[in-house]
Amino acid sequence: MAKKLYIKTYGCQMNVYDSERMVDLLKPLGYQVTDEPAEADIALLNTCHIREKAEQKVYSDLGRLRQHQNLRQKQGKSLFIGVGGCVAQAEGEEILKQAPYVSMVFGPQTYHRLPEMIAKIVRQHEGRLPQAGRGIVDTEFPFESKFDALPVPETTNVSAFLSIQEGCDKFCTYCVVPYTRGIEYSRPAKDILAEAKKLVELGAKEITLLGQNVNAYHGQAAFLSNHGSTEWNLARLLRELATLPGLERLRYTTSHPDDMDQDLMDAHGDVPQLMPFLHLPVQSGSDRILQAMNRKHTAKDYLKIIERLRQSRPDIAFSSDFIVGFPGETNEDHQATLKLVQEVVYSQAYSFKYSIRPGTPAGSMDLQVPETVKTERLHELQALLNQQQLAFNQQFLGTLQPVLFDRIGKEEGQLLGKTPYMQSVPVTASKRLFGQLMNVIIKGAHANSITGEVVTEIRKHTA
Ligand code: SAH
Ligand code: SF4
Ligand code: F3S
Repeated sequence: MAKKLYIKTYGCQMNVYDSERMVDLLKPLGYQVTDEPAEADIALLNTCHIREKAEQKVYSDLGRLRQHQNLRQKQGKSLFIGVGGCVAQAEGEEILKQAPYVSMVFGPQTYHRLPEMIAKIVRQHEGRLPQAGRGIVDTEFPFESKFDALPVPETTNVSAFLSIQEGCDKFCTYCVVPYTRGIEYSRPAKDILAEAKKLVELGAKEITLLGQNVNAYHGQAAFLSNHGSTEWNLARLLRELATLPGLERLRYTTSHPDDMDQDLMDAHGDVPQLMPFLHLPVQSGSDRILQAMNRKHTAKDYLKIIERLRQSRPDIAFSSDFIVGFPGETNEDHQATLKLVQEVVYSQAYSFKYSIRPGTPAGSMDLQVPETVKTERLHELQALLNQQQLAFNQQFLGTLQPVLFDRIGKEEGQLLGKTPYMQSVPVTASKRLFGQLMNVIIKGAHANSITGEVVTEIRKHTA
């Protein structure tokens, strides 16, 4: 009987990509994915450390897995538990102290060693149960790149993720990523092109290039280009990917304003596959706070970039991340953030209360903002962002939008897709249309989605 693997993913898309690769790694060992932790032989939590809440969730989920482990023990079976991702990287041994029933702790840069870790754990126990104090911790930042050890993908979603860059050297004072993911690293362009080609052959119509600072991409081409340059930037990579037949849509995330070069902004104007949507986090609209955050850009710099991108691609829609209640943030700073939001006009955005992260410079700054003030500011900011999002969606009423159906909806007979502008579109449609790019006439607009009807080919011809 096939062995079962349960895997839960927290955090950003990089973790989603990593989890998919873990599945690929364990498939040759006979592990099949299950959604039921109760029937799993191995359970992996791919964790996120970005805010305190994300971290706490891991420990409560571990408690639940412990119960499944106990139950399986009574049935004479075992459940080996592994904790990967950014909490694992940040806490290492500490996880084994708090949860001694965990067998493996591994970081975002060592998960390619999972097959060896699992073999070792299984051998150690020879079918017996996980024993306290015998867990493996591997949170190294190895010299070899995990990408070289990962297998070629065998399956894909219609909308696929492809990690091209990892880590971060920016050290924003609030953020754990440079510590959990390590220094910035760009994969060689030829490896990315080969993986993209494979994904398209397997049926991907949309590829989202991923990186914590994806627009800082500077990969070795590994061969000399016409201009003699051996290094590619993101614009060059996007242009090359756009030549892949069958690849209809390209996206990239997450970008930093400081790495938004002219070449990349131009690509938004002349690469038709590059979708008119950009997630470009600004964090705050106050220069004083931006400086304390070590963001190295002002609100004005950011607005200039937005303007230049709009010159390149007039219909481009923007999204951002915001942090409210950073240490020392006054009401005046907060008002500056609201003002920036009003100037940009976003199509969607994420906003968070500042969360103290141990070991980061901002964690020990004076003038931490009281929780009640953070809550108030978050509500105010979110009200404005929601209003903008709804207004953005309402503009689409009555228009025809190309929608790529990349998911099956929760309700019976429902498909979910995305417009070029990243709006979610749930519609009632035949499963036959799953994976297709279809025109949808928009008839409803809500804060988080737009809805409508698929315009069939027949209607298109008779219209
Ligand atoms: N590399 C990306 C995003 C990294 S993390 C960037 O620089 O934009 C995703 C988001 O989490 C950040 O943009 C930030 O808004 C938020 N975040 C990071 N650390 C945080 C903290 N300590 N408290 C609250 N939000 C945080
Ligand atoms: Fe974190 Fe800043 Fe790096 Fe983004 S750029 S990952 S917020 S340190
Ligand atoms: Fe979280 Fe790590 Fe991503 S901290 S946001 S999973 S890089």
